[in-house]
Amino acid sequence: MENLIIAPSVLSADFANLGSEIHMLNESDAKWIHIDIMDGMFVPNISFGFPVLEAINKISTKFLDVHLMIEKPERYLTQFKHAGANLITVHYEACTHIHRTIQEIKSLGCQVGVAINPGTPTMVLNEIIQLVDLVLIMSVNPGFGGQTFIPNSIQKTRDVKALANKCGNMNLKIEIDGGVSITNARDLIAAGANVLVAGNFVFSSKNPKLTISDLLKLGE
Ligand code: DX5
Ligand code: ZN
Repeated sequence: MENLIIAPSVLSADFANLGSEIHMLNESDAKWIHIDIMDGMFVPNISFGFPVLEAINKISTKFLDVHLMIEKPERYLTQFKHAGANLITVHYEACTHIHRTIQEIKSLGCQVGVAINPGTPTMVLNEIIQLVDLVLIMSVNPGFGGQTFIPNSIQKTRDVKALANKCGNMNLKIEIDGGVSITNARDLIAAGANVLVAGNFVFSSKNPKLTISDLLKLGE
């Protein structure tokens, strides 16, 4: 697949050297940078917020893929747009009025994604898949980097791809987030994934730029 996108997650970066980590990603084959925002309520962890996103945006040359793991994300959409988000993904489980929230993100001029947790069935996407640019399938329970990939995510990817085809959203991006590595990436791509998030696998490797290139090559 020539349009595979690798989206390294900065959650696993060295925050004491965030500038040099972003410069490294700028020079890499990664098209996107994945930014995980956690509020300590929707997920049992707190990551970082607007000042860090703004700082990344100042030096990044890449598309900023912002994954909101926060309750009631509709409260902060404008601020995320102003902080530099190119795409805003909200969790289906965190939104009472997901349809309205999707429209609000679009009206800001951002691309829009909807994420589903491992315990959430793909059928919840039935009424909204034709409205979004991206579906994010969580392949770990959200909250932490470095967790083990849940194998059922491969079947979920096939199911989302089939639903997108059925609903006529042929350009839908299907992003997989959590425990992605060279050992499961090939199966995910074959199942229909075209955006792979990788945190620990990239940043704990000896040569992160090479690891990103290796993942991208699987899409050729
Ligand atoms: C987890 C985050 C992920 C995380 C992925 O809640 O949404 O984006 O950073 O990290 P790895 O690739 O290490 O599982
Ligand atoms: Zn994420």
